[in-house]
Order: sequence, then structure tokens, then C-alpha cells
Amino acid sequence: MKPARLILTLFTAVTLSAPVASAAPETGGHHQTLRWAAPKGFHIGSAVAGGGHHENQPYPDPFTSDRPYRRVLAAEFSSVSPENQMKWEYIHPERGRYNFGTADAIVRFAQQNRQVVRGHTLLWHSQNPEWLEKGTFTKDELRAILREHITTVVGRYRGRIQQWDVANEIFTDTGALRTADNIWIRELGPGIVADAFRWAHQADPKAKLFFNDYNVESVNAKSDAYYALIKDLRAAGVPVHGFSAQGHLSLDYGFPDDLERNLKRFAGLGLQTALTEVDVRMTLPASGVPTEAQLRQQADYYQRMLTACLNVSSCRSFTIWGFVDKYSWVPVFFQGQGAATVMWDDFSRKPAYDALRSTLAARR
Ligand code: XIL
Repeated sequence: MKPARLILTLFTAVTLSAPVASAAPETGGHHQTLRWAAPKGFHIGSAVAGGGHHENQPYPDPFTSDRPYRRVLAAEFSSVSPENQMKWEYIHPERGRYNFGTADAIVRFAQQNRQVVRGHTLLWHSQNPEWLEKGTFTKDELRAILREHITTVVGRYRGRIQQWDVANEIFTDTGALRTADNIWIRELGPGIVADAFRWAHQADPKAKLFFNDYNVESVNAKSDAYYALIKDLRAAGVPVHGFSAQGHLSLDYGFPDDLERNLKRFAGLGLQTALTEVDVRMTLPASGVPTEAQLRQQADYYQRMLTACLNVSSCRSFTIWGFVDKYSWVPVFFQGQGAATVMWDDFSRKPAYDALRSTLAARR
């Protein structure tokens, strides 16, 4: 072993092992991991499993309880996104009371493992606490509640969040604003979206502020709506820095071949782009086990999404929505579907994992 390589090996082993017992044997050494294979400055991320659907599953909270899970999370990824732990219902469960424990722990974990963090999310129609959705507030009160929340949460992690999904899923698939189900837009009008970006920017001027949604991989009515809105907001000086497609794909539908072209048009507005919640689900055979052909096609979808991002210079962040099937949200939300992630339940690697790693390594 060359001295330089030896020093790098020792350095990585020590830093990775700080918060968790030791470098992960199941990942076969650091040089075979996704983060090692990635080109410099390109972040390969995962959601951090916990909260949300996990609370009704027959296992303890993954992030806080599963040590092998934490080892793989540390070893494989250079970016992490709290899957639920920064959402309103989790972090702000009662009016005037915040629950920062797990979010703090995720940010600390990320620092110890030299990972960046994507904050998720501040203005959304879903996973809001009852006190908010069912409460009676005047418009001024509601506005003050949102402002206080954004200032508090973004301010708390100031300097430690690389990208924030400020607004999540504000358009329907036809490109209409969600004026019925998004409490903020319904009660306060569309101008509240710009205010959310302004308040977030004041609270953390370095964080890159994103719009994030699903079914916006292609050029379509929904992504057109984002394109028009962001163009207007930027012209008005609103601090919008990024546009991201979640990337929840299914083998039951074709691959969005124009993903790269779509990302490029947003880059053309001067924006960063990202893929933030990538997974590839499939309708499972009766056995519950995917076929070889399904696994090959899944690997192909993962690889093509990653390639689209790598081909766009503004796309420097690619995050998968969990890395191990046993913790995936897919079987809980899509009946009869599953196997959407890149690892089997024992953390062994599926063809999709190998496809991601070789695709990264080819650009290193
Ligand atoms: C999902 C989580 O994975 C689940 O644990 C939770 O029960 C529901 O939300 N788009 C998003 C994510 O922006 O926040 C969603 O995450 C998946 C779809």
C-alpha cells in the first residue's frame, strides 16, 4: 500500500468510526462505498429513517436504535435528509413547543461523519400537526406562526444545513397551486410562498433554498408551473436558489427520458438542481421477491436518474429515499409494491447499488 493511500485509509476509518463503533465490515471497506466513488463536490445522500410511517411498524426507530443501520448510513453517504424528523408534526408537535431532539442528533451525526444535511421541509400541505390544521387563527396569527417556525427551525441549524426544501409539493399534477389542501396558500394566498423563502434566507443566509416536488422529473404541466413561478420570484428578487425533483419512480411507468433536459432548463434560470428522494418501486410477484428482470430494470432506472444529474453541472446532490428495503415507505403507501431501495434487509447490495457505485466511479 502506498503511504498516501494508507494515511487516507486511516483518516477515513477514524473519522467514520467516531460516532459508531467501527468502519462497516458489511460495506467491504471505505473504498467500495458510494461516497468514496463519487466525484469531488458531488453529494450522494440518503433519507434518515425515523418518524412518519416508521412509528407504526414492528421495529424500533431506525436512526436512534439500529446500530448496523447507522454504520451503513455513515459509511456510504455524504449527505443526509431527515425523512420525517424536521417536518412540522414531528418538530413542532404543540403550539409553542418544539421537539428538536432527533433533528439535533441527525445534524450532529452528519457533522461527525463529514456529511452535509438537506433540511426537509418548511411549507407543505402534509404532515402538519393537528393544533395547526384544526386550530382557529386569524390571518395575522397564522402568518406569525409560520414566520416564527421558519425563523426558529432554520435559525437553530444555521450554517449546518446545505439545502432546505423550503416549499414542498405546492402544485398539483395539472400545475395548479394547491389552494385547497395547503393551509398556508389557502388561508394566506400564494404570496406566502415568497415570504417563506425570505424568512428562511434571513435565518440562514448560506443555506440554498429549494422548491421540491414529485412528478416533475419530466417537462410537463407541473414542472412548467414551477418554471414560471420561479422565474417570476427570481425577477422579483426572492431568494430561491434551487429546484429539485424527488425522483420516486415506478417500473410500472416508463422512465422520464427528458429528465436531463428538464434539469437543464432550471439550471438556465441560474438555479441549483438536485434529485432528493430517489427510489424505484415495482409491483411485486406473489412471492414478494423481485425477479431478476425487475432488479435489472430497477438498476437501469437508478443509473439513468444518476446519469441525468451527473450530466447537469448544477446538479451536485443525489439523494435516495432510504437505502434498505425493510425501512422503505413504499410498501406502506403503495399497495402491492415494494423492493424500491438499493439494499436487501441484511444490507447486502442489490444490482441498483452496484449501478449507482459504478456510475459514480466512472465520473470520479
Ligand atoms: C414520507 C416518509 O418517507 C414517510 O415515512 C412518511 O410516513 C410520509 O412521508 N414526498 C416527500 C416526503 O416529500 O416527505 C415523503 O416522505 C414522501 C413523498
